[in-house]
This record gives sequence, C-alpha cells and structure tokens, in this order.
Amino acid sequence: MQYLIIRSKMNRNIDNYRILILDFGSQYSQLLARRIREIGVYCKLWDWNITVEQIQEFNPNGIILSGGPESTIQKKSPRAPEYVFTAGVPVLGVCYGMQTMAMQLGGYVKKSEKSEFGYAQVNIIAKSKMFHDIRDSEKKDGTPVLDVWMSHNDIVTEIPSDFIVIASTDNCPYAIIANEEKKFYGIQFHPEVTHTRQGQRILKRFILEICGCKALWNPANIIDDAIWSLRKQVGTDSVILGLSGGIDSAVTALLLDLAIGKRLICVFVDNGLLRLNEGQQVTEMFGEKLGLNIIHVKAAKRFLKALAGITNPEDKRQTIGRVFIEIFNEEASKIPQVKWLAQGTIYSDVIESATSKTGKARVIKSHHNVGGLPKKMKLGLIEPLKNLFKDEVRKLDIELGQPYNMQNLHPFPGPGLGVRILGEIKEEYCNILRHADAIFIEELHKANLYNTVSQAFTVFLPIRSVGVMGDNRTYDWVVSLRAVETTDFMTAHWARLPYDFLGCVSNRIINEVTGISRVVYDISSKPPATIEWE
Ligand code: XMP
Repeated sequence: MQYLIIRSKMNRNIDNYRILILDFGSQYSQLLARRIREIGVYCKLWDWNITVEQIQEFNPNGIILSGGPESTIQKKSPRAPEYVFTAGVPVLGVCYGMQTMAMQLGGYVKKSEKSEFGYAQVNIIAKSKMFHDIRDSEKKDGTPVLDVWMSHNDIVTEIPSDFIVIASTDNCPYAIIANEEKKFYGIQFHPEVTHTRQGQRILKRFILEICGCKALWNPANIIDDAIWSLRKQVGTDSVILGLSGGIDSAVTALLLDLAIGKRLICVFVDNGLLRLNEGQQVTEMFGEKLGLNIIHVKAAKRFLKALAGITNPEDKRQTIGRVFIEIFNEEASKIPQVKWLAQGTIYSDVIESATSKTGKARVIKSHHNVGGLPKKMKLGLIEPLKNLFKDEVRKLDIELGQPYNMQNLHPFPGPGLGVRILGEIKEEYCNILRHADAIFIEELHKANLYNTVSQAFTVFLPIRSVGVMGDNRTYDWVVSLRAVETTDFMTAHWARLPYDFLGCVSNRIINEVTGISRVVYDISSKPPATIEWE
C-alpha cells in the first residue's frame, strides 16, 4: 500500500491542543464533541463529576460545560468542579452549563415563566471578542441579531458581579453573558445544532481564538500520528487482528499495515453467516489487492454444528461469539511471536460502554465483538481508532484511498446472518437468505436507492406459505425486506421505498430464489422494534 508519511514537527502531537467537555447529560453532548473535532481540534467528553487530578492530567486549553436535562434549582443537581473556574483556561457554558456557571460564581437561576423550545432571536447588545462580526441579520437600529435554537425551562436572573450581559432575547434577559478578562462565556442557546446558524462560527471563535488552539486534528494528521504511535507502541513485535470486512477493522488493519507491514497478521473467520461472495471479496481486497497478511479460516461447518438446535437469539449470539474466540485463540497460538491484539474499537463504543458501566443503559442485545479476547490470550491491546467517531473513521478510509469501497457502507452485524435467520440456523436457510439479500442490495444500487437508506437487508422467516408458480402449488419460505433511515442507529424510521421498486425486488426474489414463495416489507420503526429482527 502506498501512503506517504510526512511527519513534520508541525503536526507532531496533534492532540496537544485539546478541549474538555464536561457532560451534564444533554442529548447533544456527543454532537458538541463532533463539532469540535470538525473544527480540527481534539476534544474529549467527560462526566461532570470529573476529579481535579483528571482535569489536570488532561490539561485542556479550554473547557465546555454541556447542556443537561436537570435543573440547577433542584437540590443535588450536578455542578462543575470548582477547579474549572480557577484552572486559568477559558470556559464556555452552554444552556445548563451556563446556568451552573452563573450560579457557582454568584448569580441566580430560576424557573422561567415561559419555557423556550426551538427557534429564537438573540439581540447582541454589547461588544465582545467572542461575538464581534458574528450575526445573521441586523435590526433597524443596527443591533446585530443571531438566529438560534433554544431548549430550556430555567433562566439566569442575576449574573455574577464580574460578568456583563452580551445578548438577550425577549424572554431571556441573559442569553449571552461573559467575563472577558477571565475568558468565561455563557450562552443559553445550543451552538452545536445546525438550527443555530452561526453555531459553528461561535464554537470556532471560542476554540481557535479565545482558547488559542491550532486546528491540527484532520484525517492526514490523524493517520500520520497513528502510524507513528503504533510503531512506538509495537516496536519489533507482531500484531494479530480479527478482520471482519467492516470499516472499523478494515481501517485498523490499514493503519497497522502502514505502520508495521507484514508483522500484522489478520485473521478472517468465515463463519458461514456472511453475505453472498463476502469471504471472497474480503480476501481479494485485503489480501490480493492490498497485500495484507491474511489467514482465511473457513469455519462454516464448525459454526453451524455449534448452532444446531439453538433458537434463542441471545444464545445464538453467545455461541457465535464463543466459537469465534475459540478459533481466534487457536490461530493466535500458532504464531508465538504475536504480542499484541488489535481491535477496531471506536469512540462511541468507549462512551457507550462507560454508560453501561454506570448502569444508565440497559442491554437490549449483547453486541458481539472480540472484547473477550485479551484476558485469555495475555496480549497487549491496540486500539488506534478509540478516540475517533464513526464519521472520522470514514474520513480516514477516504484519506487512505478508500480501499474499503463505497459499495459497502451499510453496517453488517458481527453475528452476520445469524441474527437475520429467525430461530434455528440451518445451511439451507443461509443459502436462501444470501441469494435473496444479494438481489435486494443489487436492486437498491441499480435504482440509486442504496445511499438513501442507512441500512438494508433481508430476513429469513422459518414459516411456509402457499404460492402458485405456473400451474403448480408451492409451499415455501417467507423473507422480509428491511430498510431503515437513521443517523445514530439508536432510533430509526422504516424507509419509504417506492412501491414499484419493492414490487420489482419481490418479483425477482420469488422467481429467482428456489424455496421462497412470499416477500414482505417490514414497516416497523425503532423503537419499539429494533433494526435487526433478533
Ligand atoms: P439493533 O438491532 O440493536 O441494531 O437495532 C442497531 C445496529 O447495530 C447492528 N447490530 C450489531 N452489530 N454486532 C454488531 O457488530 C451485533 O451483535 C449487532 N446487533 C445489531 C445492527 O446491524 C444495526 O446497525
């Protein structure tokens, strides 16, 4: 693989400039973090009850206090550590973050007579370094106006004595407040949502000018930095990686390939639950075209044997995960020089597992990945993507020449077709499903609909229905088509695919796939359904 590594002094330590976001539980906290990364600066989300030592160790150039669902008026509602205001770095409080900042520094907050949700106009009434030149329009008297998005029940009614008011709305006298000397700013609206039209400019001003950060966090620098760090971490050892063909493990493999070349050993386990020709595509792309070191384990029979008779979805997942680990262990133990295990963990996995540790999230499905491996194998863990959001991983993929092609952007679950065949998994069902699914996906591409949906696939239902083909009665299986639109896969709408398109797919499947007599379309959203059927 060709990728020119230019490691200049300029881009070394691209996370030297860093912003700390204290999370008070807003639904937009992750979005805030992504917006800052988009500006080109490294940032990390941390629970509001971070310790002073943790802040000092992180050593941020600026701190943002996020919004949150609670009310500062309530007893025991969360507060920022006092150290935030003595650390000597700029602070930006957003919504709840502004209210707690105002309160902690001597101001008052009370329940607003009128809650404000949605669009609002903010009038800028005083000059400030943070907002000069930033406006959407002007009033007749020349007052600059911002179009913003608000979402709050409480308002600041008195500001700390060393603060000034910069802007207000009709309903909210303190919409923007500041202590310019200390570089403390409070804004009642949400700059991270696109409805606040100047939101990104405001964040940029705060981060690049007020905090003095340099925008070094971009795909080329991230790759360069990852290669350098991987070389430092691994030294002359070898690394093993479970390659699934998904984008996270693919980008992890490509970075390691650039860093250590043939000392990366990829294990690709064909569990018999892959899509049509997928095993061949992965080995051709990564092995033959890109020249990665791949061990292709053909283990379909072993998985099917282990899965025989199992109908419960969770038991199926556990079995698939267990057999995968067994095979991976066997392969790893054949290569004694391997000292490290690489995984494609990304930042949202880290945030989500932190949430599940605190018990805030309930396990709906145990998502299978190779998380159980290191303890057993006593290998060091390498996770080069663990600070990146999914969209950043996609940008890295593009920067690396997009070898993991655009054809395959929809996610595919670890247990593969195992969660798309309801009940017991049989080889016959896998073959039928693979064929039907390939037709659905092919037609989506042909109709230019593939990129309009976030995920599309076919589900095998082990029930028989009567049909008629020519003059003969048939009594065959049913499949369901599923297509959803979502941004985060936590909630999803069923995709309104055109009837004619669905009709064409159904026709092709019933005519071309032996064993299917009926095709249905799933019109359930998440929640209450989930995206996969099991
Ligand atoms: P659900 O069905 O939970 O799916 O609404 C949300 C997203 O997660 C994918 N998914 C999985 N991914 N291992 C994975 O790597 C799994 O076990 C798994 N189960 C679901 C699913 O395809 C969808 O994109």
